[in-house]
Amino acid sequence: MTRRRYSLTALALALGFAAGGPAAAQAPADWSELPVHEVTLFWPGQASLQWLRSDEHAGGAQVAAGMACRTCHKDDAAELGRSIVGGGPLEPRPIEGKKPVIDLRVQAAHDDENLYLRFQWATQNPYPGVAHPHWRFDGEGWERWGAPRLHPDVWQEGGPAIYEDRLSMMLDGGSVPAFAEQGCWLSCHNSMRDMPDEPNADKVKAHPLLGEVLGKSDVRKYLAASRADEDANWEATKTPEEIAGIKVDRGFADLMQWRAHRSNPVGMADDGYVLEYRLSDAGQPVFTSNWDKDAKRPKYMFDAVKTGYRSRRADEIVERAEAGALILGENTVPFDPDLDWTEGEMVPQYVLSRAQASGSAADNMEVLGTWEDGTWTVVWVRPLDTGEPDDAVLDPGSTLTVTLAVHDDNITTRGHHVSFPLTLGLDVEADITVRKVD
Ligand code: HEC
Repeated sequence: MTRRRYSLTALALALGFAAGGPAAAQAPADWSELPVHEVTLFWPGQASLQWLRSDEHAGGAQVAAGMACRTCHKDDAAELGRSIVGGGPLEPRPIEGKKPVIDLRVQAAHDDENLYLRFQWATQNPYPGVAHPHWRFDGEGWERWGAPRLHPDVWQEGGPAIYEDRLSMMLDGGSVPAFAEQGCWLSCHNSMRDMPDEPNADKVKAHPLLGEVLGKSDVRKYLAASRADEDANWEATKTPEEIAGIKVDRGFADLMQWRAHRSNPVGMADDGYVLEYRLSDAGQPVFTSNWDKDAKRPKYMFDAVKTGYRSRRADEIVERAEAGALILGENTVPFDPDLDWTEGEMVPQYVLSRAQASGSAADNMEVLGTWEDGTWTVVWVRPLDTGEPDDAVLDPGSTLTVTLAVHDDNITTRGHHVSFPLTLGLDVEADITVRKVD
């Protein structure tokens, strides 16, 4: 494959906002001068907060009392991953060849404006996970093609496993109860997708907050602090007023995801938060659905004048190094139903736009991953203070908690490798020390 290297300045130039636009952030020119923090990400299976607090977990009573995971699991993250990944009570659906552990290298720096992070990890496959499910024409209509590995279409039906690679991070400046001790497990529960006791869609749709207010049909991440009962059951949501109060006090986990198909092709990461659900920050996110619900067909297709094709076929998507993403205003035209579509033609399920992304949802405007020789390198620029009420604030001199996760090899939901909570210190000694650079 062709080798591509971008600097963020080159990205800014390529995207056309260097001259006259906002000044491009100055990520460290030479990362080799900054210390490397090695973080062990392990396969957690279905180790939900409910399981961790139960008798089935040897530290159950202590977790329920708020004790930190690392009090007992100081150096055994890799061991946990190895013990879980092959199958057992915490992994009912083992995936052949899945790695128990991913070693993540993290480097960090900041200046007066921004936090700069650089992440590196090896992918399981000899190609980057840049493909994502598509809409496929079957001769009559358009159907979803491709699914993540934990989906029955893949493990039961033998369909193609397709899903983007991701690097996710959650940040908390100290306002989420017990986050420093138990990190992302405070957001991981039974009843979520691919976890034990998933409720059916109708039950979620009938829920007064998740269904009727938020319009959801499944359960995703939420913080224990958003629930009124001791088990942090998905149904036991606090009142909208209580939840709004927690949000004002920044009692949410700031969750950002770099996505190999749905954000990286336009040099961004998304920006969301976890409180009563996993929600996007206010504003317009970097990617939106490419589905016209009423007409039951895609909204956009590739612009053949610019790309040479209007659609692609499976063999042009699977195990490829190019994301093949639809980018609004760059390689798309509105979908034309009158063309002579033939069976097997496909277009991506999502469409990206850097230009239309706006508000707090678009705070991560300079995040770029490159894949080379089996390794992703993601350089991330994050404003220290976005000025938005739905983000964590990174004050120099302060220590925050960060938790990190990687989705590798065509998978989503719980199929990630995760870290125990880590301290992130700005000019303060921490698990990840963020030094000031000029
Ligand atoms: C009081 C000590 C203690 C605390 C606190 C604790 N654990 Fe454990 N945990 C254990 C022991 C002991 C075991 C069983 C031995 C082992 O597998 O290491 C265990 C097992 C596990 C396992 C199962 C591994 C397997 O082989 O199935 C997971 C996953 C786990 N712990 C995660 C966590 C997480 C996440 C936290 C924090 C939310 C946590 N633990 C907090 C003591 C503790």
